[in-house]
Amino acid sequence: MKVSVTTRSGRELINGGLVLDSSGTVADLQEAIHQRIKKYHPSRQRLTLPLQPGSKEKPVVLQSKKSLKEYTSGNSDALTVVFKDLGSQVSYRTLFFFEYLGPLILYPVFYYFPVYEYFGYKGERTIHPVQTYALYYWCFHYFKRIMETFFVHRFSHATSPLSNVFRNCAYYWTFGCYIAYYVNHPLYTPVSDLQMKIGFGFGLIMQVANLYCHIILRNLRSPSGNEGYQIPRGFLFNIVTCANYTTEIYQWLGFNIATQTVAGYIFLVVAFSIMTNWALAKHRRLRRLFDGKEGRPRYPRRWVILPPFL
Ligand SMILES: NC(=O)c1ccc[n+]([C@@H]2O[C@H](COP(=O)([O-])OP(=O)(O)OC[C@H]3O[C@@H](n4cnc5c(N)ncnc54)[C@H](OP(=O)(O)O)[C@@H]3O)[C@@H](O)[C@H]2O)c1
Repeated sequence: MKVSVTTRSGRELINGGLVLDSSGTVADLQEAIHQRIKKYHPSRQRLTLPLQPGSKEKPVVLQSKKSLKEYTSGNSDALTVVFKDLGSQVSYRTLFFFEYLGPLILYPVFYYFPVYEYFGYKGERTIHPVQTYALYYWCFHYFKRIMETFFVHRFSHATSPLSNVFRNCAYYWTFGCYIAYYVNHPLYTPVSDLQMKIGFGFGLIMQVANLYCHIILRNLRSPSGNEGYQIPRGFLFNIVTCANYTTEIYQWLGFNIATQTVAGYIFLVVAFSIMTNWALAKHRRLRRLFDGKEGRPRYPRRWVILPPFL
């Protein structure tokens, strides 16, 4: 089979095209492109079918496991694909690992080390019990996320752009330091014992519920992880589309009830707005995929992220 590979501007990426076995897959084509141009590792290649000039439709993205024949018209033995370089990539596990490693390491620095001396506080620092429990709670949370990244989540996308590592690390690491600075501050005023217990107790229940939500999501896919999206069912998923975000928000609320800092509540508001945007997109995707047409199930009525009665 003759495959022409063009750039989005219409220029030929590989002069004269490539010749592949007609039983070849898209992955074989990506490997052949990689052989010819070393810097284009398959993970950074996005291949699509060409669009008619002036068309406003989204192009068909070639799936690496599918046969090239599936993308040719009729009995044709020729195929034209459009190539896009996605830039340097990292695996999703690497991305999540570095995002979460920062807060896991940086928060204890504010608790254990005399950081505040550098900010002009020279006196004795009294550590309140709530600050110690906050440290355990925080570290448990980020340790859990790292464990989930490696042992629970089944990602459908293998890689993410390298630039996302810097963007996401900036977000998590900065907020981690900002909150740690205020919760461990020598002038920190603790909340009442009862408020602390309610906050951490509620937060811990929500962390366990969050893990349970992630296990439900995991079980929607087989170990290879690339079976697309299913309708999540069971537990809070019977009420909300993104129950994992609901429990994530509540667990941060629990932390904030117990520690009560402006920094913690600012993080909660920012995280809530980010997760709401993602949840809206996920909700729309599931409604589009499960539209009740042509034998497909209809997506049940659900709240997006927070049911008004919870
Ligand atoms: N504090 C914060 O600012 C913040 C922000 C975001 C997330 N988080 C936390 O990090 C966790 C992970 O975040 P995330 O955004 O990666 O969560 P997510 O997109 O909801 O998904 C978690 C895993 O489940 C899979 N999945 C989701 N819906 C699915 C469906 N309908 N069918 C099959 N598989 C499905 C995802 O697959 P794909 O690989 O296809 O996506 C992913 O592997 C969250 O649950 C939350 O606890 C915290």
